[in-house]
Amino acid sequence: MKPELKTLIDEAELKETVAALAAEICEDYRDKDPLLVGLLKGSFVFMADLIRQLDIPVEVDFMAATSYVGRESTGELVVLKGLNESVHDRHVLIVEDIIDTGLTLHQIYDRLSTEGPASIEICTLIDKPARRQVEVPVKYVGREIPDLFIVGYGIDFDQKYRWLPYVGTID
Ligand code: IMP
Ligand code: MG
Repeated sequence: MKPELKTLIDEAELKETVAALAAEICEDYRDKDPLLVGLLKGSFVFMADLIRQLDIPVEVDFMAATSYVGRESTGELVVLKGLNESVHDRHVLIVEDIIDTGLTLHQIYDRLSTEGPASIEICTLIDKPARRQVEVPVKYVGREIPDLFIVGYGIDFDQKYRWLPYVGTID
């Protein structure tokens, strides 16, 4: 059973979106030697393209976490892979593929905020604001989309479709 894919954001649009985000980030982080923190796995393709559009030096690290949503609305954060670098005194930019409910990102943001960064902001390629359950302070948004399930450009359905060079919707 092969699900039908429909292109939502094609390669050219993705390139433009990433270039626009990179231009803003360059402007804001010049001379700040920022630490870009990618959230695995979904952000790896976006991160790779984003850093190659930046014309400022940056450092990159990755973490993987999930939150178990139990009786409490925010659930408990489970860190599967922590950072290699310390965020203390660093200008941290969290790089996310897509923000949906915001539950996981909200907790990652809070956790890293307690570790003494010089500053901390969030950049997401895609935002689905209609689905938000908790407020997350997102500074850089590539594209807002309606409540659709998407895949491609690093984003998966059941670990599949990350390799697609475009973003598509799945039925
Ligand atoms: P949330 O914001 O904590 O609900 O979770 C966001 C994460 O859920 C994203 O980083 C993705 O890994 C995943 N996700 C959310 N929406 C989609 C989608 O449309 N397609 C595939 N994964 C999604
Ligand atoms: Mg993700």
